[in-house]
Parts: sequence; C-alpha cells; structure tokens
Amino acid sequence: MATYREETRRATLLQCLSFFLLGAIAMAAAIAVLHVSSSEYWRCSHLTAADDDRSSSEVVDGGGEWGMVRTRGAQFVVGDGGRPFYMNGFNTYWLMVLAVDASTRGKVTEVFQQAAAVGLTVCRTWAFNDGGWRALQKSPGVYDEEVFKALDFVVSEARKHKIRLILPLSNNWDGYGGKAQYVRWAQAAGPNVNLTSGADAFFSDETVRGYFKSHVRAMLMRVNTYTGVAYRDDPTIMAWELMNEPRCASDPTGDTLQAWIREMAFHVKSIDPAHLLGVGTEGFYGPSSPTGRLRANPNAEAALVGTDFCRNHRVLGVDFASVHVYPDNWLPAGATQEAQVRFATSWVEAHIADAEGVLGGMPVLFAEFGVSTKAGAAFNATSRDAFIEAVYGAMLRSTRRGGGGAGALLWQVFPEGTEYMDDGYAVVLPRAPATTGIMAAHSRRLQMFNSRCAWSCRWGCNKRDAGGQRPPSMNCDICRDDIR
Ligand SMILES: *[C@@H]1O[C@H](CO)[C@@H](O)[C@H](O)[C@H]1NC(C)=O
Ligand SMILES: *[C@@H]1O[C@H](CO)[C@@H](O)[C@H](O)[C@H]1NC(C)=O
Repeated sequence: MATYREETRRATLLQCLSFFLLGAIAMAAAIAVLHVSSSEYWRCSHLTAADDDRSSSEVVDGGGEWGMVRTRGAQFVVGDGGRPFYMNGFNTYWLMVLAVDASTRGKVTEVFQQAAAVGLTVCRTWAFNDGGWRALQKSPGVYDEEVFKALDFVVSEARKHKIRLILPLSNNWDGYGGKAQYVRWAQAAGPNVNLTSGADAFFSDETVRGYFKSHVRAMLMRVNTYTGVAYRDDPTIMAWELMNEPRCASDPTGDTLQAWIREMAFHVKSIDPAHLLGVGTEGFYGPSSPTGRLRANPNAEAALVGTDFCRNHRVLGVDFASVHVYPDNWLPAGATQEAQVRFATSWVEAHIADAEGVLGGMPVLFAEFGVSTKAGAAFNATSRDAFIEAVYGAMLRSTRRGGGGAGALLWQVFPEGTEYMDDGYAVVLPRAPATTGIMAAHSRRLQMFNSRCAWSCRWGCNKRDAGGQRPPSMNCDICRDDIR
C-alpha cells in the first residue's frame, strides 16, 4: 500500500511538473497573442477617438456594450471597440404622458417589450410638454415633478429593454405646447415680443431664447429618480434633438433658423458634451443646396420654410443629419402609391449621398417615416408594408457598404389599447403580424451587419494602419456579402 502510494505520489509530481511546464509555455503564448491583439484593439480605439474630433470620445470611454453612442465618420458606433450601430427604430411620442398615470404606465413597458422583441433598438419620444394638459413645463422654468418622474420612468424602462432614446427638446407644432406656447409665455411676461413673425419669434426673441435655454439646462441636468443617473451622463439617451421639425417660414433665407441652431447647439454641448446632437429637421433642401438638389424636394414650398438641409447640418456641435419621410403629406394630393414609394426611395438616397458627400461624412437618421392608412389615403394597412419595405431596402443598400444611412424610425408604434389616439400611422405590433415580420427581418440584417463589422474592425486594423487613409466603409468590406 505504502509503496503504491509512494509511486503514485512520484507519478503525480512528475505529471504536475510537466503540466506546469506546458501550462507556462501555453500561458506565455497566450500573453503574446493577447498583447498583439490588444494593441490592435487599442489602435482601433485610438483611431476612433482621433477620427472623431468630438469631446464625446474623450469624456466617456466606450463604456462596454451600453456605452454612449458616438459617431465615427459616417457611422454611429458604440462600445469599446467602436462597433457600428446601424439601427432599426420607432417613434412613440407620448410615452411620458402614458407614464404619468398609474393606470397606463404599464403601456410604456409593454411597448418597449414588443419593440425589443422585433429587434428595435431606438425609440424617439418627446422630452417636452409645455403648458396645457399634463404639462412637464407648466410655465417657464417651472416643472411638474410627477411628470418629470414619468419621463424618468420612460428612460429607466428603455434601459431595461436595451432600447436607446432620441429626445427632442421642443416642438415646431402646437402639439404639447410648441414654439407658440413659448412665445405666449414671453408675451405674458412683458409687452416687448416682436410678433411680426408670429410663433417664429421663438427663434429670434431674446426672452424666448432664454426660456428655451433654461429648459435645455433643466433637461440635461435632471437626475433620474429611478436610476440615479443624470440625463447628461446616461447612455440610454442616444441623442438630443433641438426641436421636432423646426421651420421658420417667416425667414425663407434660412438665416434666422441657422443662427438659432448655432446658438442652441453650442448651448447643449456646453452642458452635455457627451451626447450626440441632432437638429430634428424634416430635411428639406433650401437656398444653399448643391445644384439640382432643390428638385429632390417634394414640392415648391419645401424650399421656403426657412430650413436648409446641408447648411443646417454644417453647424458646429451637430453630430448627425435628420430627415423625415412623408410622401403622403408632402406630394401633391392624389399621388399614387407608386409615386410615393418612388419619392421615398429617392429622398432617402439623396440625403445619404449628401451626408456622405457635401456634409463630409456624417450619419443620417430617417427619424420619422410612415404613411397614413386612414380612409381616403393611398395606402391601407396591407399595402403600407410595401412602403416600409422600400424604405428599409434603401437603408440596407447603404448599410451593406458601411454607408451613412444609419437608420429609419417608423412613425409610429402603438401599445395595444391606445388605438383611440391613432393618427392613421399607428402600428400595433401584436396586431400586425406581417408588418412585424418585415420589421424583425430588417432588424436581424442590421444586427448581423453590426456584429460582423465588430470583427472586421478588430482584425482589419493593421491593414488600415499601413494603408493610411481609412474610408468609413472600410470596416465593413468583409460583411458586405453577409446580409441580403
Ligand atoms: C420685428 O421683426 C421683423 C422680422 O421678424 C423685423 O422686420 C422688424 O424690424 C422687427 N421690428 C422691430 C421693432 O424690431
Ligand atoms: C389594400 O390595397 C390594395 C391595393 O392598393 C388592395 O389590393 C387590397 O385589397 C387592399 N386591402 C384591403 C384590406 O383593403
């Protein structure tokens, strides 16, 4: 027994020794490999920060997979390695109002669950409600804490469902207050508002600009009562938008709106350099457009509403371009389905080309697209699917080459039981299996592309370093064939 034990011990010792040696060799090899690949990795991150001379990359690190969304050339990227973030998204603009009432709060969770299940990763919803019913801002600088908590809840639920938010800070239109409400507040406070331009005084009146700046500050500095995270530090918020669909038709030269964008972009970035900023425009081509581009507009009036796609997005601090797609509203009455789909496709393609070209390579987000299915509209709930597929198709053609078409956000997704609010555009996911299938398929293609590109970024770095120049599409050469 003893001898046997002795033998065994000797054998075990030998085994241990050889295992130890083998282990040491393997570990040395592993360290060498890791060293090489982590330096590649670093070079990748370093290039990312250098390419994107924006403070966001310096203020926050990648933050893992739930880091701040940033831009790199014409792409959105996220995470430590700067993985591309092409997105499929949706609008549900009144989530804050749903969340105020205990009886409807669950709808917020429900719509995020349903959206996440079809792979939607971004939701655009209002971060304003000025004056009026269930107002967030009851009067300038005065907030209803219960409503702010409701927005906190929306942000916190979005995080739980891995959905990022795009939050517009004001409205061009009268819904939920809008610029007219701000102007009324200023009028009530003093007699000196120049009302020649009506609600457009929002953009020029000094008192109103002060009110808006205060609202921006209150929003960005807000500390979420559910998560404890300040809004300006929260990667769940993908981006701010200055306004939903800003127009300033009282100054068709575009100078008034341009000055406002410049001032407010600087203001936002001075408080919150970490988040991306968009303007929130519909994307109409204005007077400064490249030759021939005015013809891409849906109608003659579009050039005269004081917005100017290329000029507006050259402002310092604006990180991505914003476009909406509403052929049913914009084309002359009676436009056929075919005409509407044709317009939508060329509208998307024109803006992607400009974001990559004249704008020097920035991502462009089609932050609202949809067609009404109300009685008398060209589309019904079935034929609308062809429209959605056409827009997704144009997005995919850009994604496949790693281009600037960063995502499309359907207008709009509704939770069940809120159909009474349907504006003709509502899609209730569980009740629209065909539409849901189309949306899920698009999400899957984008997700596959995003994750493939993370690999190709990581292993393709050395080649890029030697080559010097690195076009935004280069990351994605390997992935092109993977999505169809
Ligand atoms: C009021 O605004 C209009 C244009 O918005 C301008 O032409 C006019 O000079 C302004 N009036 C005063 C008194 O500032
Ligand atoms: C929807 O419209 C298409 C043609 O545009 C038509 O063929 C189809 O029958 C319509 N569906 C319904 C449910 O009305």
